[in-house]
Amino acid sequence: MTKITAKSSLIVFCMIILIFSSSCTRRKQIAVSSGDEYASRAALKIMKQGGTVVDAFITANLILTITEPGASGIGGGFLAVYYDAKKSQFFSIDARETQASRHQDFAKLKPELNSENWADSKAAIGIPGEAAGMDLLHQEFGTMKLEDLIDPAIEIAEEGFVASDYFVKAHKKFNMPIQAKAGDRIISEDYAKTLELLKENGLMSFYDGEIAEAIENYSEGWINREDLSLYRAFFRRPLKFSWKNSQNQKYYFLSVGLPSAGPLIIKQFLRGFNSAEYSKSLTEQVKEYRKAIGPALEWRHEHAADPDFRKQDCKPDPVFRDRGTSHISLYDSYGNILSATMTIQRPFGHQKKLPGYGFYLNNELTDFSSDLLACNSFADHKIQRLSAKYRTNNEEVAYMVEDFKRPLSSMSPMIIFGPDSEFLVTGGTGGWTIFSSVLETSLEIVEKKKDPQSAIDDVRFYTANNRDIYYDGDLSEAELKELETNLSSESVSLKKFPVPAAVNILHFKDKELNAYKDSRKGGFAIKDTML
Ligand code: GLY
Repeated sequence: MTKITAKSSLIVFCMIILIFSSSCTRRKQIAVSSGDEYASRAALKIMKQGGTVVDAFITANLILTITEPGASGIGGGFLAVYYDAKKSQFFSIDARETQASRHQDFAKLKPELNSENWADSKAAIGIPGEAAGMDLLHQEFGTMKLEDLIDPAIEIAEEGFVASDYFVKAHKKFNMPIQAKAGDRIISEDYAKTLELLKENGLMSFYDGEIAEAIENYSEGWINREDLSLYRAFFRRPLKFSWKNSQNQKYYFLSVGLPSAGPLIIKQFLRGFNSAEYSKSLTEQVKEYRKAIGPALEWRHEHAADPDFRKQDCKPDPVFRDRGTSHISLYDSYGNILSATMTIQRPFGHQKKLPGYGFYLNNELTDFSSDLLACNSFADHKIQRLSAKYRTNNEEVAYMVEDFKRPLSSMSPMIIFGPDSEFLVTGGTGGWTIFSSVLETSLEIVEKKKDPQSAIDDVRFYTANNRDIYYDGDLSEAELKELETNLSSESVSLKKFPVPAAVNILHFKDKELNAYKDSRKGGFAIKDTML
């Protein structure tokens, strides 16, 4: 039986991490896994020049804005967990996009607003958090000069990058304008100008200079300059918990808490499943997955939201779609670890670039739902259409959108420490599928002892409601038959649903640090050693 310990001791965590860090830094191994080759290579180069994971993250993140524009960028936000080796301390960073000050005006949109056109609306653009999050990390933990971290991105923007197959396919899939073929060079002059501005005036100038003015103008005031100047990224308490696998080996999980429900779902899942059964067969795996994910999702639907706002009390929100997210896992020669997941919400976010500045804006506020009776929904929209039963209950309005509230996320950047100095730096992309991807690949490694690449490549199961189970990957005819026969009594519908939910993993075991990519979504992993 598995066992989870809610009370986690910071001292124990830190002692364990110290042992891990020293065993890895003796050989000064460094590694990165991200969604894109340019970003991974540039991050590795920064670390080879003596930069930290934080320095490398900033460079990679600024590059991803143009090389993987469908998945993240400075028009979006991120959540991250960071281990600082010198301080022996963990930090969780919340640079999530935020509702601006005009949520009351959603009422004016009511006649037009529905779940389809809402995604395109300028009212769905959240205040971007990326620049502030990178600034916070850099102020606290950066070691290199900001200009040296921005320059590699400027070089790529000015001189161009070679469009990959995945880059071209992603644009076509989501009907985004693209003339280039795979192999063509893409130059991003407008974005180079944006980067020069940030280099000259600092990352926080995103919120009060000409970029802020352009956002106010483009968004038609849905985000105004005062909203932007008030935006802050901040540190939150990291989420920590431990769990024992069926061989009684203890693993320590470090991640982010609300406003992401993802890691909390993983924590609840591990509390409620039998890992020995899970490993027995495909049928048992899916049965245990269902058994444990059900209560975890129920908790999410009932209670999860931005913790800085009023008590939540929600109804289920069974939305299951592709998302614009990107993940990066980093380990540097000082023993620092960073796991960050970035998002602009829908693929390519708002799907229009900020005119003249060369980056896509997000449409993250659709992570508040526009669905009737859904969790984190829109007050005015909702109140008007709800049945009397709900309208008369004042508590029901407590979970609505509010000014400066951050929408609920599934992002699950995570660091997992195990016995014999083993550790994983992991996280994934794909909206609702994130917590399942991170959980299942981790279990393949720490419970089933598979090598991380097979764990990533293996078939994965997902659900948003515990009835419709989707799988991504190839099941043989025999496996499919086995599942359908064994699950038929449980009223489960099993459907193939390929989702570009990539997991980017670093794994340290037997004194060796390795980096793994997920080819579902491009992906590039690289490692090196330093003297
Ligand atoms: N936009 C995806 C997420 O925050 O989970």
